[in-house]
Amino acid sequence: MSESTIESILHENRLFQPPSAFSQQARIKSLEEYEQLYERAKADPQKFWADLATQELHWFEKWHTVLDWQPPFAKWFDGGKTNISYNCLDRHLTTWRRNKAALIWEGEPGDSRTLTYAQLHREVCQFANVLKQLGVGKGDVVGIYMPMIPEAAIAMLACARIGAPHTVVFGGFSAEALRDRLIDGKAKLVVTADGGWRKDAIVPLKDQVDKALAEGVVPTVENVLVVQRTAQSIHMEPGRDHWWHDLQKGVSGNCPAEPMDSEDMLFILYTSGSTGKPKGVVHTTAGYNLYTHMTTKWIFDIQDNDVYWCTADVGWITGHSYIVYGPLSNGATTLMYEGAPRPSNPGCFWDVIEKHGVNIFYTAPTAIRAFIKMGEHLPNARDLSSLRLLGTVGEPINPEAWMWYYRVIGGERCPIVDTWWQTETGGIMITPLPGAIPTKPGSATRPFPGILAEVVDLDGNPVSADEGGYLAVKHPWPGMMRTVYGDPDRFRRTYWEHIPPRDGQYLYFAGDGARCDADGYFWVMGRVDDVINVAGHRLGTMEVESALVSHPAVAEAAVVGKPDEVKGNDIVAFVTLEGSFKPSEELKNELKKHVVQEIGAIARPGEIRFSDALPKTRSGKIMRRLLRSLAAGEEVAGDTSTLEDRSVLDKLREGA
Ligand code: WTA
Repeated sequence: MSESTIESILHENRLFQPPSAFSQQARIKSLEEYEQLYERAKADPQKFWADLATQELHWFEKWHTVLDWQPPFAKWFDGGKTNISYNCLDRHLTTWRRNKAALIWEGEPGDSRTLTYAQLHREVCQFANVLKQLGVGKGDVVGIYMPMIPEAAIAMLACARIGAPHTVVFGGFSAEALRDRLIDGKAKLVVTADGGWRKDAIVPLKDQVDKALAEGVVPTVENVLVVQRTAQSIHMEPGRDHWWHDLQKGVSGNCPAEPMDSEDMLFILYTSGSTGKPKGVVHTTAGYNLYTHMTTKWIFDIQDNDVYWCTADVGWITGHSYIVYGPLSNGATTLMYEGAPRPSNPGCFWDVIEKHGVNIFYTAPTAIRAFIKMGEHLPNARDLSSLRLLGTVGEPINPEAWMWYYRVIGGERCPIVDTWWQTETGGIMITPLPGAIPTKPGSATRPFPGILAEVVDLDGNPVSADEGGYLAVKHPWPGMMRTVYGDPDRFRRTYWEHIPPRDGQYLYFAGDGARCDADGYFWVMGRVDDVINVAGHRLGTMEVESALVSHPAVAEAAVVGKPDEVKGNDIVAFVTLEGSFKPSEELKNELKKHVVQEIGAIARPGEIRFSDALPKTRSGKIMRRLLRSLAAGEEVAGDTSTLEDRSVLDKLREGA
């Protein structure tokens, strides 16, 4: 863990009551109702979750044990059999929802498509049969590297249907990053597209797959399925590569969902940590299904005639839980958008809301801050009156951005749910329930029923109200990650040992700093480990440093975050060069490009600073705290007595 100090600087007294029109039709209608629910869940979590699992999900067979907790390993609904693809599709087909829009898709060049539940079910079944024909079965991992097109969701649901865990890799990741993930996951098949649209340009996804698989470095991959999206010419490797539309032709639209054990792996999703390479977060079937189902139902409060839109990419956990699984499990209409705001079309989000009459809109603070910069005239020129609920996720939202969102986008009538959670938690953990919990701009407010969140010190003792500490969770919950793929020890070390168990009570360590105010409201302040949150994306400093050091010019690199008005944080890299290389602007650009190639554009350093040496302790540890201050242009405060060579600091300051 880094030596960062946790301070609370934010003091916010504005309080917004849920609009009564909203509360009246909401599932959880008042603060009292929330508090009763919370207390009930706290008193008997197992009964709370078991009752919901019975009411809300379809089971092929009932479980025998609600929770088997061998810290830090949890099993939920052990002995039960269910299938999330069945819960997302089949069970709606016997109701009036059969012909309801399940997925509305808006493509970047302006094309769009709507799939009803019956149509989505048929396509998922067909694709599941295609996978089976290619020899993919229960337990085989499938890599999905796709643009934001319906086939991404279809592929995920098809995998879930036959029990093949998927590992979705964000389409913005490089070939190298894709390769690492396919190797670690031992993927048997990859689903991709010839290309994807991104801000008026084509992302050559298939070329990246070819690079990732070159020279047989990922021997487990036998087949690649390619969706034709952009019609650009690509290489098709005979025997390995197949067009999606060729194989889908004439295949049966009937494929019964495989009854899965509750704890069968549903997916692996890689995320950055403070050490080493990205880790494969493992989520399993039943608990994840229940948790994303309930959080979607109570937090987004989706009604049957709502159009719900989450702007995340399916390559991130938000896309998994709140574009695909949570909404579809609830029989909702979920909108998927391939595009992104760009200079040639800065108002595109508002166009989508107007065009489809979006009622519930869920996006990231970094997007909101970018919209503020683009100006109110863009949203003001569109009819946004269909909106009734707004949400944010991914990073702390500053109160002024919250106020702008509330006023300009929500017309002062929509509650805002600021949702705190992580890839590891599977679903939303701390959040307002929009009809029940009054909001304070900048606070994620209170824990979801069943979630025992706390702010503690490093000994696990709760800190007092308004005091900064570490965000932790006391009792297991159904949506929690089960392990790090292939590395249970890393799971234990990363999440369960920073805070030692007390009296046999284990605490989940989230890696975030937070404080809890006297009203029990949580204020999340950001990462306390060496993870940088850039525009809502998690990046490990180690990952970016390794990418830099893999360049022949670089001797040593240290990466820190620096506050940024739009992205929240930007990456600043301090670099020392190998003997014969000289600092230059060209070299800076080359190094930035190199990082993009190694990881992806999301990791591009905003700034590179060359220096002769990095500040280190006598034991050789880079003092990142000092670098963070330097990057932010602040005075270097605090103790520098452990610094080995004090002149390094002066030089770095002069060099800036
Ligand atoms: C941050 C995204 C403050 C936090 C779902 C967390 C937030 C990390 C919020 C997880 C929020 C997410 N307020 N911080 N509402 N939501 N974070 O795994 O630092 O991509 O640890 O999951 O994002 O990022 P991840």
